[in-house]
Formats: sequence, C-alpha cells, structure tokens
Amino acid sequence: MNEARVWNRLAARYDKSVSLFDRSYPRVRDLLREDLANRDQVLEVAAGTGQFTFELAQTVGKLTATDVSPQMVQRLAGKVGERASGNVETEVMSAYQLDVQDGSLDAIFSANALHVMETPERALREFHRALRPGGRLVVPTFLHGANWRARLMSWFLSRVSPFVAHTKFTATSLKQMVADAGFAVREPIVLPGKFPLAYLVADRVA
Ligand SMILES: C[S@@+](CC[C@H](N)C(=O)[O-])C[C@H]1O[C@@H](n2cnc3c(N)ncnc32)[C@H](O)[C@@H]1O
Repeated sequence: MNEARVWNRLAARYDKSVSLFDRSYPRVRDLLREDLANRDQVLEVAAGTGQFTFELAQTVGKLTATDVSPQMVQRLAGKVGERASGNVETEVMSAYQLDVQDGSLDAIFSANALHVMETPERALREFHRALRPGGRLVVPTFLHGANWRARLMSWFLSRVSPFVAHTKFTATSLKQMVADAGFAVREPIVLPGKFPLAYLVADRVA
C-alpha cells in the first residue's frame, strides 16, 4: 500500500502544512462535539497527528486513534502522552483492515482522509462492517472537485509535493459514495476554505 509511504514522508511537516488549509477545522470541532456526544466505543481513522483527537476524547467514552502511517502515529502518541489523555489509545491501522470485531463500534470519525485513500469505497465497506447497526460515521472531507479553483490547486499540490487527492469529491459524489456503502446520510454542511470541506454525518443502516 502506497499511502503509508507517502504519509510517512509528510509526517514531519504535517502540523505546519495543515495550518494552510485548516480554516474549517474550528467549526468541525464544534460540530463533532454535538454529533458524537456520549458515544462509547469510538475509532478515529486516519487521525494524522491529532488535529481532532483531543476534542473527540472530551466528548466520547473510549477513543482509539489510528493512522496507517507509523510516523504520524508516533507524533500523535507523543501528544497523547504530553496531555495525559487517559481515554485515548493510539494504534497503527489501515482503514482497509480495521482491527475490530464486526458491529463492535458506536462511532467512527475520519477527517480529511477519504479523498487521499486509493480506494475509499473499500474503507467505507470496512467502516460499515465495524459499526453496530445505527452506529455513527462522521467523515469531514475536503472537496477537491468542488470547483475549477479547487481542481487546479489540487493538481498543483500533486506536482510540488507527494500529496495526491485520489478522489476529487464534490459534496454530491461524497454523499453518494457513503450512501452506496450502506449508510443513511445527512445532507452535508459545506464549509468554506482554500478547499471547501463537506462535513458529513451518516448512520449505519441495520
Ligand atoms: C490529510 S491527512 C488528515 C489528518 C487529520 N485527520 C486531519 O484532518 O488533519 C490524511 C491522513 O490519512 C492517513 N491515511 C491515508 N490513507 C490511509 C489508509 N488507507 N488508512 C488509514 N489512514 C490513512 C494518512 O496517513 C494521513 O495521516
């Protein structure tokens, strides 16, 4: 799998580079507190270096924060240790092969990741397997296909860095892909930024 290799290379500068694109992140933090309040067993997939992990930890029961890149997880684990977040564990884990039992999770949160995965449909099938019926999925996702400016910037980024958005989502195509994986999808909230971001909430259909 290429993803771990690419993101290991980006890990050291991730905190700095994400600050160029994080205009929508404060609003996502507010929304996730409402949409994931009091969920007990929660998995964060593609957590990066913990851009949302600590807000999640305050609102849920037990949080396992994971990423496919060992370098990202190493940095995340360092922050978890510094902040002594007692209900957070970290693990290296691929979205394509979650190390959890069928139907065992109350919620999955995965921010800004479906578009960088080579096969997001496969990740969504795996999220469906891991969630209990009625379990909640929250996937805020950058929309690299939202308009010509986003498509151009996406192309430019892929030329000057190892970063590639494999799927250039629009809000409609994101919603459709999540629905096709067996979820009842809420209308996404589209937040402005260099790349618009679709904040999408869905529940596993039984
Ligand atoms: C753009 S970063 C997002 C990090 C953080 N969630 C955020 O919102 O800033 C994308 C993350 O997805 C992870 N990733 C990419 N493919 C993955 C996969 N197949 N399984 C799990 N994580 C993956 C990368 O390692 C990287 O940390």
